[in-house]
Amino acid sequence: MNKEYSKLWLDYRPLDPRFTGRAAIRCPSRVDRQGAAVKELITALSAMLPAAELTFGADSAALIFECDIGDFLAEEEYMISADERGASVIGGSEKGLLYGVFDYLRMIRAAGSFVKMNKRCAPALPLRMLDHWDNADGTIERGYSGDSFFFENGRLIVDERTEHYARLLASAGINAAAVNNVNVRGDAVRLITEEYYPELAKLSAVFSRWGIALYISVDFSAPISVGGLRTADPLDVNTAYWWQQKARELFSAVPTLGGFLVKADSEGQQGPYAYGRDHADGANMLARAVKPYGGRIIWRAFVYNCAQDWRDERTDRACAGFKTFAPLDGHFDTNVILQVKNGPMDFQVREPVHPLFGEMKHTSVAAEFQLAQEYTGQQLHICCLLPMIRETLFFDTCSQPEHSRVLDRISGAAAVSNTGDSFCWTGSELAGANLYGFGRMCFEPQLTAEDILDEWITLSFGNDEQVRETLLYILLSSHKAYEDYTAPLGMGWLCKPNTHYGPDPLGYEFDRWGTYHRADRDAVGIDRCKTGYTSLYPSPLRELYSDIDTCPDELLLFFCRVPYTHILHSGKTVIQHIYDSHFDGYEQAVEFARLWEELEGRLDRRVYENGRKRLKEQLRSAREWRDIINAFFHRLSGIEDEKGRELY
Ligand code: GCU
Repeated sequence: MNKEYSKLWLDYRPLDPRFTGRAAIRCPSRVDRQGAAVKELITALSAMLPAAELTFGADSAALIFECDIGDFLAEEEYMISADERGASVIGGSEKGLLYGVFDYLRMIRAAGSFVKMNKRCAPALPLRMLDHWDNADGTIERGYSGDSFFFENGRLIVDERTEHYARLLASAGINAAAVNNVNVRGDAVRLITEEYYPELAKLSAVFSRWGIALYISVDFSAPISVGGLRTADPLDVNTAYWWQQKARELFSAVPTLGGFLVKADSEGQQGPYAYGRDHADGANMLARAVKPYGGRIIWRAFVYNCAQDWRDERTDRACAGFKTFAPLDGHFDTNVILQVKNGPMDFQVREPVHPLFGEMKHTSVAAEFQLAQEYTGQQLHICCLLPMIRETLFFDTCSQPEHSRVLDRISGAAAVSNTGDSFCWTGSELAGANLYGFGRMCFEPQLTAEDILDEWITLSFGNDEQVRETLLYILLSSHKAYEDYTAPLGMGWLCKPNTHYGPDPLGYEFDRWGTYHRADRDAVGIDRCKTGYTSLYPSPLRELYSDIDTCPDELLLFFCRVPYTHILHSGKTVIQHIYDSHFDGYEQAVEFARLWEELEGRLDRRVYENGRKRLKEQLRSAREWRDIINAFFHRLSGIEDEKGRELY
């Protein structure tokens, strides 16, 4: 495991001009002086004011920083009032205080001086979670940033790097993290046994110091695989008793544990279906076991038939999650949170918003995003997901007259983490924007992607105007560029099977995964009125998506089957859009590489070289995407490019 790491956006630098007087931190005894909030303030001020005399207490000082806890605030809420002579930060609890301190530090670092500000803020989403897909052997499923820093050869590691990670997450507003893969395999099955309790307790304590609840992904069939029972039937008393005992043991060894994350009846993971039970039976049985300890069950809605016959045109994978969970609305215990992927398929570059967000009215739901760029360039391509995440959060589900945006309907958001043991944590420095931005967006969704990126760029790379402008431009254009040179018009699944990197337009066409575009010589796309999918949305979304004339261009081939000559709202034919977007997307990538080269000497050498190397690969791969997808549709349709470009 690589032990060297960058401090990322928590690398506090001296403020300019140098302050040489006395600075004091004051807090009443109800504030924990050894707690994370005060500690962070000391760490930051010592680095930002290296020539100052930093004291604790009531003596006179030129700069005064007061920390307090106020009962009138909610637990995670905070208030800041600040000016040139210091600040007062009040939190609803130690956790709220910590968020307030981080926010205050962010503001003064961005401004470069002690600024006047007044702010009262509480996070929009109560649960802001990261799901790590780390395996106990140290590998990471869909990990593109090196190996795990949580696990090595079956051991759970808690060290300085872990502590810094918890700080990074807390500073972005994350308050929960599951540390192991939802596909619970190998030694991870035994994470809920005694041998792991001491390390889990240590990890949980570090996390909880930074306001983060530790979650463990568990194998639904653990009563068999770990407990030696003959069944894991959720309605069997022995199964329920086994989990109750297990929860009692675990929560007494790891008192700050948050609960379990469960992938059941999905891609080979066992679930309640094995016993003829439904998902509420499965989730509630676990929820009751953890309830006495305040624990929660995060239950994934990623359930579909992954052994489909491609000839079967009636079974539609997009409908599966809805059909499984909509009938169970209102059947889940209150400490169950249903974790629903942002779209109905699987983290494609463009998908419609999952219809379950509008449908589930009596169930706690969390939206699941994937920061690990499995289908969006695997951190070799630049693809900033923040605009897409924000679009999803602000999407109007039309499920009720008011408060029907996804954001209003969910109680949390989770994201598959993009971290690993690489020096910069996320393989590519620019992918760090997704990690930071996801947390910030869940906390303060009224901030735009641009606001958050601006903040992240300054904290991570300083105040160089050219760096700021270039990175902003590249990051904000990157998702569209990736979409353009890969899978246009909501088509999805044009990638290579298994690895999900690079183009293979027929790779998923005759396979068992329910992922088809059904392109032939005349037409392309799926008629999702026929499969019943559009009817899963309420009016007027249902009508919008059903009608070829109103369906938004970017989702047209997801919802409709159309001839290549169909004219889009943009005025182009479908085939011309495919050709043009692939040429344009590639040109954008060329532009990103050119702009990056102009930053030589303005960025840290290591950052610059890493970015250059990755952009070289992005260009190679984007060219491959452009030419293979264009050649595929050219050969199939026989239609020439209006602009006469080489299509192969
Ligand atoms: C995708 C991904 C898998 C993952 C799964 C999930 O299908 O390719 O690696 O296990 O999502 O979300 O559970």
